[in-house]
Amino acid sequence: MRLRSMLFVPADSERKMTKGLTSGADALIVDLEDSVAPTNKVLARQMAAAFIAGPGRQSAAAIFVRINPLDSGLALDDLAAVVQPGLAGIVLPKTLSADCVRRTGYYLDALEARQGMAPGSVTIVPVATETAQAMLNMQSFNAPVARLAGITWGAEDLSAAIGAVSNRDEDGQYAPLYAWAGAMCLVAAASTGVVAIDTLYADFRDTEGLLRACRNARRRGYSGRIAIHPDQVHTINEAFSPSAEELAHAQRVVDAFAANPGAGTLGIDGMMVDMPHLKQARRTLGLPPD
Ligand code: COA
Ligand code: MG
Repeated sequence: MRLRSMLFVPADSERKMTKGLTSGADALIVDLEDSVAPTNKVLARQMAAAFIAGPGRQSAAAIFVRINPLDSGLALDDLAAVVQPGLAGIVLPKTLSADCVRRTGYYLDALEARQGMAPGSVTIVPVATETAQAMLNMQSFNAPVARLAGITWGAEDLSAAIGAVSNRDEDGQYAPLYAWAGAMCLVAAASTGVVAIDTLYADFRDTEGLLRACRNARRRGYSGRIAIHPDQVHTINEAFSPSAEELAHAQRVVDAFAANPGAGTLGIDGMMVDMPHLKQARRTLGLPPD
């Protein structure tokens, strides 16, 4: 499953869910949490279930649902309503540690059995940095976790949890805590062997700024990004796909090592390349690491 772009669609908006399907996003995140008002939670759950069973099931995009947090009193009803064929995964907000992912996995074991779905087929993408405890527990993502398909992070809820006025300094840059949260997302994803998915870019009319942010994110090791508006999807997909030059260079690195089986390091275009470069090149080409 490719997860370059994951577009949020509020579950209480039929219009946005339908529009999301033609956005080109690799995945939709049908949201039951923060974009749905408390008075609409039950309706949103029903609408999400109907969407997954209907248009979602036929769609090329992977359908995820962001449930309400495990301690909200809503999560089990959310899961019971949406786990059915057509559901690719759960986005888990406000996690405290990798144990929240495991616990959700046990709930999914039972619900998949009820639906006659393949065991383990519903994946989980936690939003791993939204609580203060989660930040202290990021080391719990130090080995593979069942069902994990990627890890993403958020700065908005973390700043609310901390009691910060803003997660940005006066110059507009993320304050150190939030830069650290993003960095820990990368480390946790690498440690668990899944993709890191960068947080949202809120200013959805600023295509230039989004492109710059995506390019930086890709350089840093993210494989994709959250989208909140369909206009962001194309930019994200482009930015997280290797360019023709990158593909050609990666192929040259792979070919050079294949032609020199005993070599640990080689020169290409006057630059040293060794094992980390080979690994990176294989990754660019979508090949297994070795
Ligand atoms: N998914 C699908 N369609 C969307 C969309 C989304 N996330 N956001 C906007 N659209 C649609 C609108 O419905 C509208 O379609 P229409 O012309 O057929 O009615 C079109 O795209 C243009 O929308 P626009 O007027 O530019 O935006 P808006 O002011 O209506 O909505 C937001 C702005 C932020 C409210 C909206 O983008 C949104 O709901 N985003 C997701 C929010 C969310 O899920 N947050 C939780 C995660 S942080
Ligand atoms: Mg939130």
